[in-house]
Amino acid sequence: MGNLLQGKKGIIFGALNEQSIAWKVAERAVEEGAEIVLTNAPAALRFGSINELAKKCNSIVIAADATNMEDIEKLIDQTMEHFGGKFDFILHSIGMSPNLRKGISYDDLNYEYLNKTLDISAISFHKIIKTAYKKDALNEWGSIVALSYLAAQRTVCGYDDMADAKSLLESIARSFGYIYGRDRKVRINTVSQSPTLTTAGSGVAGLSKLLDYAEAMSPLGNGTAEECADYVLTLFSDFTRKVTMQNLYHDGGFSSMSMSLSAMELIEKGLEAEK
Ligand SMILES: NC(=O)c1ccc[n+]([C@@H]2O[C@H](COP(=O)([O-])OP(=O)(O)OC[C@H]3O[C@@H](n4cnc5c(N)ncnc54)[C@H](O)[C@@H]3O)[C@@H](O)[C@H]2O)c1
Repeated sequence: MGNLLQGKKGIIFGALNEQSIAWKVAERAVEEGAEIVLTNAPAALRFGSINELAKKCNSIVIAADATNMEDIEKLIDQTMEHFGGKFDFILHSIGMSPNLRKGISYDDLNYEYLNKTLDISAISFHKIIKTAYKKDALNEWGSIVALSYLAAQRTVCGYDDMADAKSLLESIARSFGYIYGRDRKVRINTVSQSPTLTTAGSGVAGLSKLLDYAEAMSPLGNGTAEECADYVLTLFSDFTRKVTMQNLYHDGGFSSMSMSLSAMELIEKGLEAEK
C-alpha cells in the first residue's frame, strides 16, 4: 500500500488469530514495507493460526514464552541473526489473567494467579526491553510499543487484576523509556485501545455491553483493531521520533468523555425496557 516503514525491521509479539491486534499490526507493517519476525508462546503456536500469517507476511516464527528470560534471549539473538544485525521496532501485544479467566473477582484474588497476571501482562515488557537493551538490539531512533487499556487509570467493572497489570505496564514504559531514550535514542510508549472483540477481549466479563457503552460514549466511535494497527505503525515510523514515555489513547475520544447524548439514549432505552 505505502512505504511508511520501508527499510524497517521488527518483532511482533502476540498474534494468535485473525482477530488479534498484533495480527493486524503485522499485516499492515508488511504492507508498509517492513520486514518482521513473529513470535508467540509455544502453546499459542499450536492452537492459533500464526503460520498462516507468517506465510502472508513472508516472516519466520520463533516460539518464546514472554515470561521466560532464556526464551527472550534466544528470540532476540535469532532475530538479529535473521535480519543480519540490529532492528527497529518491537510490539508487545500480550495479556492474560488466570484470575479473570477463572472468574475470580477482584475482592477474592488468588495471589499466585495475580503474580502470573503481572508477569505475563506487564513484567514481560520489562524482560523484553531489558534483553533488547543489554544486547543493543535496536537501532537509534527505534521504537517499542505495548498495548494498554483505560482500566490502568479508571476502574472498569469486570477487568479484575488486569487493571493492576496495565498500570504497571504503563509505568515500565516511562521508567525504561527514560533510560533507553537517554542512552540509545530508543522510544517506548503504550497505546491505550478501545475495547475490541478478540480472544483476550472476550475474557472480560460483559464485553459486548462494554463495547456498546464505549461506542455510545466515544464521539468518533470505538477504535477497531485495524485502526489501532495504523496508529501503532505511525509510532514505528520516523514521524514520531520525539514521542516517548507516553500512554497514548486510541479510543475515539472515550477517555475524555463523561456523558454523551448516545449514552443517555442507551440508558433511557434500558429504563423503558424495564418498565
Ligand atoms: N481486546 C481488547 O479489548 C483490548 C483493549 C485494550 C488493550 N488490549 C490489549 O491488547 C493486547 C493484545 O490482545 P488482543 O486483544 O489482541 O487479544 P489476543 O488474545 O489476540 O492476544 C493476546 C496474546 O497474548 C499472548 N500471550 C499470552 N501469554 C503469553 C506468554 N506467556 N508469552 C507470550 N505471549 C503470550 C497470547 O498467545 C495472545 O497472542 C493485550 O495486551 C490486551 O490487553 C486489548
